[in-house]
Amino acid sequence: MAEAQARQRGGNADDDSGSARSGVRFEVDGEIATITLDRPEKRNAQTFATWSELARIGESLPEQVRVVVVKGEGPSFSAGIDLRMFTPEGVPGQGSFSSAAKSEGAGFEQRVSQAQAGFLWLRRPEIVSIAAVQGHAIGAGFQLALACDLRIVAEDVSFCMKEPALGLVPDLTGTKPLVDLVGLAKAIDICLTARTVHAEEAVRIGLAERVVAGGDLEQAIQDKAAQLLSTNRDAAVATKRLLQGALGRTLEEQSAAEAVEQAARIRTLFG
Ligand code: CAA
Repeated sequence: MAEAQARQRGGNADDDSGSARSGVRFEVDGEIATITLDRPEKRNAQTFATWSELARIGESLPEQVRVVVVKGEGPSFSAGIDLRMFTPEGVPGQGSFSSAAKSEGAGFEQRVSQAQAGFLWLRRPEIVSIAAVQGHAIGAGFQLALACDLRIVAEDVSFCMKEPALGLVPDLTGTKPLVDLVGLAKAIDICLTARTVHAEEAVRIGLAERVVAGGDLEQAIQDKAAQLLSTNRDAAVATKRLLQGALGRTLEEQSAAEAVEQAARIRTLFG
């Protein structure tokens, strides 16, 4: 992105210097922001620093941004949590789950919700988030893809909710979008078997919008972003807000919500 207006590099989280580094790259080009997990040599494994950086990006996202692309450098979107976090030594400068669980007690839940903040903002009505997913999307990687509004995947994609196989639950906001997308029975099947979902099934069950050849993923994302930017910004925000509320409302409540949003639109356009 030659015209990138903002660019930050989070550094290499595998640098054992002791400093907590995120391995996240962030670029803004006009109305499109791109977040890149950038630790391909470790298959973009995620740490506390990754999640802090995601949250920080969400907090400081430039107002003009309408589309946020989330992608991973290299052969895998993300191999999930950095497995060193399960060792007593942990990730240099970031500690480990075992030490956090022992020392913090109930504070551990607080730490999980801090991590979740890195994922939750991707659903804001003001933006549409698109995950560009190639290769492995395991555990936290699967959940990061689920945190986005849309998923466009390469033919080699493999989603796996590995947490139950490791004695854990998926806790990075992934369970609700998964159930919303594929239904309860399929979500139980995917999570409790920790099986792999490949591209054809992902599209068939609604987990992914589109599958393309690996070499076409970037173009497919650009095309989708352009389509999304072609509609009126305020109408898009109001419509996303309506659609997000639909599952929790009755038909009558949803109809009333449509009327409220439309009245606001009409006032703005013609008032
Ligand atoms: N954490 C730390 N390092 C990882 C990693 C991870 N999750 N995944 C891969 N790596 C590292 C490997 O150790 C290896 O490092 P070295 O070169 O230093 O040996 C490097 O990345 C490349 O890995 P592979 O050689 O294994 O690459 P591959 O392409 O053959 O296989 C893979 C890729 C299938 C993703 C495999 O690496 C793998 O199975 N990784 C572990 C996946 C996993 O179990 N993730 C945890 C999911 S659960 C979760 O995320 C929990 C949660 O949210 C709470």
